[in-house]
Amino acid sequence: MNPEYLSLVNTALHSDIDSPELPGVLDRIRTQLSQGDSTSLPEGRSWSSNGILISPRAAARCFQGGPRTVKYLRAVYRALQHPGDGEFLDVVYPGCGPYGTLVVPLLPLFSDAKIRITFIDVHQASIDHLEKIISSMGLSRVQCRFRCMNAMDYLPENKIDLLVLECLIQGLRDEGQVAITTHLSPYLAQSGRLIPRQIIVRANWIDPVAELSYVHQCRRAGADIDPLALAQFRIPVGKLLSLDRHTHQRLDSEPAQIHLPEFRLPEKQRQGQVLGLCTTLDLDAEFRLDEYEDGITHPCYPSYSGELSPGTLLKLVYKTGSRPGFVPASD
Ligand SMILES: C[S@@+](CC[C@H](N)C(=O)[O-])C[C@H]1O[C@@H](n2cnc3c(N)ncnc32)[C@H](O)[C@@H]1O
Repeated sequence: MNPEYLSLVNTALHSDIDSPELPGVLDRIRTQLSQGDSTSLPEGRSWSSNGILISPRAAARCFQGGPRTVKYLRAVYRALQHPGDGEFLDVVYPGCGPYGTLVVPLLPLFSDAKIRITFIDVHQASIDHLEKIISSMGLSRVQCRFRCMNAMDYLPENKIDLLVLECLIQGLRDEGQVAITTHLSPYLAQSGRLIPRQIIVRANWIDPVAELSYVHQCRRAGADIDPLALAQFRIPVGKLLSLDRHTHQRLDSEPAQIHLPEFRLPEKQRQGQVLGLCTTLDLDAEFRLDEYEDGITHPCYPSYSGELSPGTLLKLVYKTGSRPGFVPASD
């Protein structure tokens, strides 16, 4: 790749995470990767037995998610520098989309490394688009395999050194992140890495109107959203779910129902407070996506939220399957 491209990637990896130039840098990386190819990617989402399948065009838009993409790239960059268990570093990237956003921009920095990557996406248009990008990169030793299939049907031939994915919507609803990770994490090598390495969902009793007004105020002022300041709009209820490679390996395969701890909802509440499911992602030991940093870490307000009365026992389960999400437990 040309020196300008390498300089853009270096800026994405090393400049201040809050730098206002980062969205523009990501945009230029994407333009360079597609080399002016304006082939329009198909729209139209569908559903599978393990969740929603967003369209190739929608998946392409994920590139722009500033801090999300930059933090993932930084975590993946660090992970690619570790040796694998075997001759190659075996990377599996399910739900890669048309750009392989979380890995592909980095590949020119590793063109001589012994890396073997399996890209998986259910959409042929995304796989074709990605193959074209990678073939124009002139990578000498990196081996890329492309699989157009549901990631739930993929059976790895080798132990996985790095499993990276982002198939998730706020509150872990609708998309197949949990099911796909549960299916593939048993194949992780002993020293293998999973990105994100931990996903936590907490229940809070939130006043969404007041909280959003604070969030918008911070955005207008260009200020960070202070997790401590969020506390004035919320009453913590409890940690519902914490998923890492070890918890995934203990879960049943599809369709799974994860039983969760029960919590008593607050007796006293302010008007307008409802149940919010709040997601954070630890990508690795250093990079974390906090609440509100991206759409995927905005609180999720489930439809049954308004029916919960103060002081009742919150009994939820997390279900994978065609409509994944947190739902009331049936006694
Ligand atoms: C949210 S997009 C993410 C795209 C890209 N990885 C990124 O982070 O920018 C999710 C992608 O996963 C794919 N996908 C979702 N569920 C899948 C499944 N079960 N098997 C294979 N691909 C899947 C979708 O087609 C889509 O391209």
